[in-house]
Amino acid sequence: MCGIIGYTGPKKADTVILGGLHALEYRGYDSAGIAFFEKGGALRSVKSAGKIACLENKLASEENVNTRCGIGHTRWATHGAPTDVNSHPHGNERLMLVHNGIIENSRELKLELEKQGYVFKSDTDTEAAALLIDACTRDGDRLAGILKAIKKIRGSYAFGILFADTPGEIWAARQDSPLIVGLGENENLIASDVTAILAYTRRYLALENGDVAKITRDTVTVYGADGAEVKREPQTALWDLAAAMRGGHAHFMHKEIYEEPDAVKKTLFPRIADGIPDFTPEGLSPDRIKAVRSVRIVACGTAYHAGLTGAAVLERVAGVRASAEIASEFRYRNPVIEADELVILISQSGETADTIAALRLAKAAGAFTLGIVNTVGSTVARESDAVLYTYAGPEIAVASTKAYTVQTALMTLFGVWTGLIRNTVSEDVARKYVSDLTVALPAEIKKIIAREKELKSIAADIAEKDDMFFIGRLFDATLAAEASLKLKEISYIHSEAYAAGELKHGTISLIEPGTPVVALSSEAGIREKMVGNMKEVVARGANLFVFAAGKEGTTELREMSKIAFVCPDCPETVAPIALATAMQLLAYQVSLARGCDVDQPRNLAKSVTVE
Ligand code: F6R
Repeated sequence: MCGIIGYTGPKKADTVILGGLHALEYRGYDSAGIAFFEKGGALRSVKSAGKIACLENKLASEENVNTRCGIGHTRWATHGAPTDVNSHPHGNERLMLVHNGIIENSRELKLELEKQGYVFKSDTDTEAAALLIDACTRDGDRLAGILKAIKKIRGSYAFGILFADTPGEIWAARQDSPLIVGLGENENLIASDVTAILAYTRRYLALENGDVAKITRDTVTVYGADGAEVKREPQTALWDLAAAMRGGHAHFMHKEIYEEPDAVKKTLFPRIADGIPDFTPEGLSPDRIKAVRSVRIVACGTAYHAGLTGAAVLERVAGVRASAEIASEFRYRNPVIEADELVILISQSGETADTIAALRLAKAAGAFTLGIVNTVGSTVARESDAVLYTYAGPEIAVASTKAYTVQTALMTLFGVWTGLIRNTVSEDVARKYVSDLTVALPAEIKKIIAREKELKSIAADIAEKDDMFFIGRLFDATLAAEASLKLKEISYIHSEAYAAGELKHGTISLIEPGTPVVALSSEAGIREKMVGNMKEVVARGANLFVFAAGKEGTTELREMSKIAFVCPDCPETVAPIALATAMQLLAYQVSLARGCDVDQPRNLAKSVTVE
């Protein structure tokens, strides 16, 4: 999705802004632009469709870019094609504005502004916001004018604004789209996420809905929707810049997979006391958990798959009715939400529009909401009744990997804690889970990573095909869904994920000689049934690749498959989490073999802040 960076201070603003835009590339974008004050004070913009390198080339041939204040933007097209003209900033000789979000009433505003004599140059919704703010601020009162304009705007926005007659000053406003103010020494920044400011500062203020802020190199003033000054507490990012860089790996995705063993430990250890799980210090009381009649987990994409695993653990281990839902469906289907439900929102970014809407719906219905979030201070984290942070560190690659691993590990620990409270799990069983999760799981993930070469040889076979299947039962059916999503996202190979027992109810007709089938088998208890399903596809000529954990019954799996990837020592309790790493590395290797853009796959954005 789009990214915003703005800078005011003693440094060369264009250099800071381009650096910030590069840091935001991971969000996915198709064009970029920058606005700045020229040496003489005039306001200028340079914009380009394509990668940031295209913008850099344009800027290189510009004169007078020596500036100390400016704003920049990476755009992911929603209204209007990705062209130079549609790129941000938008505005005129008096004002330049960058925008994340969607202005829902832009047509209406445009008609009104055209009547006043404004001429539009782009197809974007943003230009209406820029010109509306211009119309409202022409009498000179910036704050009153911006407040007046945003009252007329319907939709979501994070704005960064420069006014030509006040060089060195940046104005910002937000509604349902994240925006932070980076607090430096004798310099300040605005950004749509922390990654963009880490080179300069780790301290920042998170603007809240309705806030308007005025930023100069040495002052930051935040106003609430009524125009009165408000205080926003400074926060400190837990991430440093090195963490946000590739650290010697060819791709962020690869680096992030390698970080999984540590991320699991970082996420779980703070929730363990005397060898058993304990979430009470994080605002979750055992009484509340006892009183919960059912748990509903709402999320999108990969986070939704983590939710499916979480729901399965809660039912199986804690004996509580639990389900997982896709947020974009949930929010519009008038769900019956009861006050004694626990609604869990899982989100890496904490800014996914549909997940935020689901959270608000659940809160309005009186349910207790729990955010499981990777980004400190994000909207889901701030608005949930309680929050459990996953400590995966910044996830830059568009395809989510380590976030999924820590989400599933944390949900498993949470399920065990719930079981302890509800007396479905003994202390001994809880201790075994804790040891499996914190010792065996990181160790097994490391072993899988060390076997990347084996995955590469399976990838070579898959990379040549256009279609394939992932099959599994129970936890492995969910893992199959996540494995299939990962492969589709970054290799553009079509794949189907199927509960293995369901294949013969129709989809098996697609299996033909040579079709690759990845069969997942992490549970010995259901292995015999899986073997039956594997035989069905082998009989139809499939190239079978088996991924399994444990020792029992694995000889037959090896005999049946073209290549078998078995983790003999991996405990069943954590096997579907560990095998997810193998699926991620497999997708990575297939993407490489097909020469795809691993970290920034086509059409996808990292943080989906529009519905
Ligand atoms: C897939 C992926 C997406 C996200 C989804 C939710 O690799 O990254 O499916 O999982 O967009 O994002 P968050 O977790 O930020 O709410």
